[in-house]
Amino acid sequence: MKLCIYPGTFDPFTNGHLDVLQRAAKLFARVRVAVAIDSTKTPLFTPAQRVALIKANLRGLPHVDVTSFDGLLVDFARRQKACAIIRGLRALSDFEFEFNMALMNRHLQPKVETLFVMPNEAYSYTSSSLVKQIAKLGGDVSKFVPPNVATALRDTFRRTQGK
Ligand code: COA
Repeated sequence: MKLCIYPGTFDPFTNGHLDVLQRAAKLFARVRVAVAIDSTKTPLFTPAQRVALIKANLRGLPHVDVTSFDGLLVDFARRQKACAIIRGLRALSDFEFEFNMALMNRHLQPKVETLFVMPNEAYSYTSSSLVKQIAKLGGDVSKFVPPNVATALRDTFRRTQGK
């Protein structure tokens, strides 16, 4: 049973992430979405919130689960006995960062392969930080994120802005 890990900060999970996940789910017997606790970013949502927001979008994907992880991604992948890490490549601009990370991860753990999939081009300009910026300023993000994520963004910004 080949397991692949789909890691990310997922702050928040977008339709683009879902598209990558659905593609990975067609290729692997099991897929584990891994929410990074130790991200270099300052996330809006806690790891538990991010995990819950992703879990609610797994209908029709019984072989996919979601968890959070701490520390090095390759160590987590080895502990899970995963054979691969999957990442999405939206555009050429993603390439340099992803290429460096894949090579560094290979150096740290040669037994875990990184594979890239291209999400639908409709998502090539979607990013978690743009979505957050739009939601914070009261814009409509319903085309870019699943409905539960749009609601969570609205509620979170209403609370933090005291509306
Ligand atoms: N659709 C839409 N957006 C996408 C996307 C897709 N298919 N793929 C990536 N993105 C966007 C995200 O929205 C996000 O946008 P933002 O930066 O504007 O917020 C950005 O691309 C990347 O975010 P995400 O996909 O959540 O992943 P990440 O790059 O934050 O994840 C980790 C990085 C967690 C995988 C990496 O930091 C890691 O492995 N950390 C653990 C520690 C470690 O091992 N470090 C050594 C690494 S060599």
